[in-house]
Amino acid sequence: MSSDFLIMGGGIIGLSIALELALRGTKVTVISRNFPQAAAHAAAGMLAPQAEQLPPGAMQELCFLSRSLYSDWTAKIEHITGLPTGYWECGIVAPVYAVPHQEISPQSLSKDWLDRQAIHQRQPGLSPEVVGGWWYPGDGQVDNRLLVRALRSAVQSLGVILLEGEEVKELQIENKSLTGVVTSNYELQSDRYILATGAWSQELLPVPIYPKKGQMLAVQMPLVTSHSVNLATSNSATYESAEYLSQVLYGEDTYIVPRRDGRVIIGATSENVGFLQGNTPTGILQLLQAAIRLYPPLEATTLLEQWWGFRPATRDEMPILGSSPYPNLTLAVGHYRNGILLAPATGLLIADFLLKSQTPDYWDAFRWER
Ligand code: GLY
Repeated sequence: MSSDFLIMGGGIIGLSIALELALRGTKVTVISRNFPQAAAHAAAGMLAPQAEQLPPGAMQELCFLSRSLYSDWTAKIEHITGLPTGYWECGIVAPVYAVPHQEISPQSLSKDWLDRQAIHQRQPGLSPEVVGGWWYPGDGQVDNRLLVRALRSAVQSLGVILLEGEEVKELQIENKSLTGVVTSNYELQSDRYILATGAWSQELLPVPIYPKKGQMLAVQMPLVTSHSVNLATSNSATYESAEYLSQVLYGEDTYIVPRRDGRVIIGATSENVGFLQGNTPTGILQLLQAAIRLYPPLEATTLLEQWWGFRPATRDEMPILGSSPYPNLTLAVGHYRNGILLAPATGLLIADFLLKSQTPDYWDAFRWER
């Protein structure tokens, strides 16, 4: 088995790079240890560079680039596979319980700011405690679980070899270059290697990445037979209308992400507990309290599921992209809270870097030695 590129990591970042490299006609192999464990499954799928209030700079540029690619990128994946991705330009509302000082003077009002009346008009059902907030119509969401399923199918249909259930045990290094990787069942060689192993990257290379656990849960909005809205673009159920959610709510200590079928994702804790598995009563209680406070209609929903995942965090909360200490090894790790958002831009820019030695102006901000 030989390939031009061997990608370690079958999560959303590894797959997005595989997609781009395969579309450009190269032979790609992806090694995936445990597909369901990838952070992409645990996410809520928010595409939220504005709601996340990223400061101006390289990270903001990268995130805006990726958000701008999303529509075409998901359309391409849907076209290749015939599978949905749940991409939805629904916008994000970020409500607050106290008016921030800079918003009080009319001169300083940001164009994104909604006063009390406007925010309650935009989203009926919000807590009466909400005094205003921001509206980011350019932010949105994708159904991360549908997306990774479709992405996986897309790369396979483009001829990418996907080795599932294979663990990379060792990187073989000779003369300061990578000569192969040893996995559970194989010894594999390639011209170029890409590390996209998320929160687990330290197991293979001393990159400064650590896990930041997030707990989440999902509820179902009640189905109703009258006064209902059938969302035109939905392929599923009709659900509670009067106060139905048609945009993401990004609160001060929770976010609430409605899917078109009435499922609502509530996230997320942010915990420094290493790879400690499992949901905790405290974590779930904290999420439910914060979410119900923000959007009281959630009280009458049905609990569906709870889960957790590990974000690949870096100290400055920016990914590590591009070259590594080894000339034939490229890094695409540490996407922290923005892995789903950054997938299309990471695939595009890593492919440009590998195939054209072309990088954007801000690329250095993501170098591993920063
Ligand atoms: N992107 C949201 C989170 O990581 O919780």
